[in-house]
Amino acid sequence: MPDEDTAPVALVTGGARRVGASIVRALAQAGYRVWIHHHASQAAARTLAQDLGAARAVPIRCDLSDPRARGALVDAVAGPAGPFGGRLNLLVNNAAGFERGAFERRTDDDLRRVLELNLVAPLSLVRGLLSALRPRPDAERRTAGCVVNILDLGALAPWPGYVDHCAAKAGLANATRALAAALAPVRVNAVAPGTVLWPDDPAFAPGTAARRRIEARIPLRRAGTPEDVARAVLYLAQAPYVTGEIHVVDGGRLAAAGVAGRTEA
Ligand SMILES: NC(=O)c1ccc[n+]([C@@H]2O[C@H](COP(=O)([O-])OP(=O)(O)OC[C@H]3O[C@@H](n4cnc5c(N)ncnc54)[C@H](OP(=O)(O)O)[C@@H]3O)[C@@H](O)[C@H]2O)c1
Repeated sequence: MPDEDTAPVALVTGGARRVGASIVRALAQAGYRVWIHHHASQAAARTLAQDLGAARAVPIRCDLSDPRARGALVDAVAGPAGPFGGRLNLLVNNAAGFERGAFERRTDDDLRRVLELNLVAPLSLVRGLLSALRPRPDAERRTAGCVVNILDLGALAPWPGYVDHCAAKAGLANATRALAAALAPVRVNAVAPGTVLWPDDPAFAPGTAARRRIEARIPLRRAGTPEDVARAVLYLAQAPYVTGEIHVVDGGRLAAAGVAGRTEA
């Protein structure tokens, strides 16, 4: 494991709990020092940072829907006075909302809110943190950093009950490829998970028809795990010749959709 001064640095948005916390743990285990971004989950972020050790993990709060708060996050992460000296090797855009609802009952404001969090915020962080991710001629950073955007199967095979969400994630999928071309040698990749953790929503409680319907569409016949996503993030972070890639982690659900018709949320 690299020592604290040379260890790579990552920022994981929405890193306090659920999938984000698994990504944080996997990166810390691989030797990264990690900014654990959170919004409401301050206590969980602090507990996770304590578990990993103060030298390895630092919580940082930001409402990613707020452009000014995003600016402050960028300044804190990239500022030389910060705990990791302004260095950044990996940005994981994991934070997102998952809003459901019949298209005709939703509003333009609903759409704007979803786009702001799931599409504008990740791109805004890439732009803000780009100079920290780009290689510098000095000895401190010869290798370019990279970005991993967390998508959703709905970015690739959209669901009728989640039009705004699917539009935002599809935008982020396409932007991933465009950014890979625009920002090289900074690498930009994405992970598109299938179901790896059920939403905190009674509609998806154990034994519900919604759960059984989704499981029946997965060739591996089960949901994945947050660790499956974390493994994919780590792979993309450490694959120096991979950029513009959308790595699907879904137990075969997308492949089967080509046969059965659709992935269904
Ligand atoms: N769970 C799955 O099975 C699944 C499947 C496909 C794709 N994904 C994708 O994987 C990623 C993580 O999934 P998840 O289920 O763990 O997500 P989640 O629990 O729904 O949300 C992740 C985090 O996003 C943060 N967040 C929400 N609104 C925010 C805001 N306004 N400002 C800042 N942060 C905000 C929250 O942080 P706080 O808790 O600190 O507020 C939350 O912990 C997401 O991009 C999701 O779309 C998940």
